[in-house]
Amino acid sequence: MTIRISPSILAADFTHLRGELDKVQTADLLHIDVMDGSYVPNISFGLPVIQAVKRSSKVPLDIHLMIEKPDRFLEDFAAQKPEIITVHYEAVTHLQRTLGRIRELGVKAGVSLNPHTPLDGLRYVLDDLDLILIMTVNPGFGGQSFIPAMVEKIRDCRALIGAAPIELQVDGGVNVENLPMLLEAGATNFVAGSAIFGAADPAAYIRKMRESLRQG
Ligand code: DX5
Ligand code: ZN
Repeated sequence: MTIRISPSILAADFTHLRGELDKVQTADLLHIDVMDGSYVPNISFGLPVIQAVKRSSKVPLDIHLMIEKPDRFLEDFAAQKPEIITVHYEAVTHLQRTLGRIRELGVKAGVSLNPHTPLDGLRYVLDDLDLILIMTVNPGFGGQSFIPAMVEKIRDCRALIGAAPIELQVDGGVNVENLPMLLEAGATNFVAGSAIFGAADPAAYIRKMRESLRQG
């Protein structure tokens, strides 16, 4: 499966958002972290910011909804024509229905798991999924350290996916140093916030990531 890099704009300088977006136009996706202050202990941004990003960038959007009851807002987010909408396993009651609804709206359906959430239930919704996001930190904040126990979880998830056309995304504490290990464990889609936007030259950092993934 194609390897993809998705910079998280949570780590961008919002006072210069267009300039920040210009620096990452070589990325495969743009990761958009929506936080509601309830599902996670932090509030980030919502639709007005996403609309502005959409106007200022050509890179397809990868929307990560860290919100309670995301079903309430699926139409609104889908109206921004993202490539992917990812909901949290722990934040929905009828996951199979929610994933179906996302696809009905013409968007790829993703599901995200917190570090302690077991993979088990996913085996029953594999046909309804385009992406699995293994959180490699507890969601809510950028700049946290990668949780080493997640390597085994990524491996188990890769085994579960098998040959199904599902991307395996990792998010949290990802950087050029741990990429080879994550790739080897089976991840195919790499979110990075502070590593990319904190770099002196984000475009050069993305190139370094691609290089490291090629050699990994
Ligand atoms: C965390 C978010 C991440 C975050 C990653 O809750 O889902 O996407 O922006 O940031 P870094 O790469 O700095 O850990
Ligand atoms: Zn995220």
